[in-house]
Amino acid sequence: MKGKNVIITGGNAGIGLATSIALAKQGANVYIVSRSKDKAEEAIKTIAVESGNKNAKYFVANLSSQKSIRKLASEIKNEMSIVDVLINNAGGTFSDFALNEDGLEMTIATNHFAYFLLTNLLLDLIKKSDSGRIVNVASGSHYQGKMDFESFTKKKSYFIMKAYEQSKLANVLFTNELSERLIGTNITVNSLHPGFVKTQIGNKNATWYSGLFWSVATKLGAISVEDGAKTSVYLASSPQVKNVTGKYFDKCKEKEPASLALDKELGKQLWKISEELCPIA
Ligand SMILES: NC(=O)c1ccc[n+]([C@@H]2O[C@H](COP(=O)([O-])OP(=O)(O)OC[C@H]3O[C@@H](n4cnc5c(N)ncnc54)[C@H](OP(=O)(O)O)[C@@H]3O)[C@@H](O)[C@H]2O)c1
Repeated sequence: MKGKNVIITGGNAGIGLATSIALAKQGANVYIVSRSKDKAEEAIKTIAVESGNKNAKYFVANLSSQKSIRKLASEIKNEMSIVDVLINNAGGTFSDFALNEDGLEMTIATNHFAYFLLTNLLLDLIKKSDSGRIVNVASGSHYQGKMDFESFTKKKSYFIMKAYEQSKLANVLFTNELSERLIGTNITVNSLHPGFVKTQIGNKNATWYSGLFWSVATKLGAISVEDGAKTSVYLASSPQVKNVTGKYFDKCKEKEPASLALDKELGKQLWKISEELCPIA
């Protein structure tokens, strides 16, 4: 990975930070995206200390906002001439229904629309790489997911896990549809489940009881962030998956995703609706 340019969204915390450190250790030029300048600066210091690689840099953007993502993409284009790896990792859970400034429900906006828009805006830069890779951090939660496109913009019996599962199913559907669209290019795109990982994701935007539930559950059964980063690092860097595309991985191994995630018609519908609600141009 020496000299490769890698962008990691949500690289300031949790699985994203551990992924950034691991790839910096391999010699990559790591660029993290964080919504906070302070957190980004702290993370850059941590990456340098933990990896011994001082090349890490950061961009600041709110990935729940299309305006902010478009600004981010133009800053990336000014700063970088090639992107070798894009890791869409930033994500969250939201206890309460809320719409973002684009009129999209926060879970789907942050977890799907950010992946969709940032990836599409950066495709030209990734195509400049000899062998570009896009890695989408999904979740095993996608197996429970159902798509309800109306819920992207309307409150319909909102429940935190239902919204999260849908957004993670969207990650796998998006990956599979994008891989078809990238046939004939030098870019691969894969999705993954990182494991049940001890991070703060379930304590953010949480009610006290959902936060407490997450804290107890992760104390009892979750793996470390270093272990949680392994599949992202594998898909970003391993020669074993150089030519593998449109697949879902768990524990660094290919795995059959949910049957809904393999529904090509559903993937095409998701793409069409995503373009309508979030124009790429
Ligand atoms: N932890 C698990 O067990 C688990 C299981 C399956 C899948 N995942 C997936 O793994 C990925 C990483 O999650 P994690 O567990 O590492 O959670 P985390 O520790 O909360 O990290 C999430 C990262 O995303 C960033 N982020 C969230 N919303 C953002 C926004 N609007 N704009 C910019 N950055 C934003 C966070 O920034 P802040 O630090 O500012 O909050 C943080 O850097 C997510 O896609 C999640 O769905 C996690």
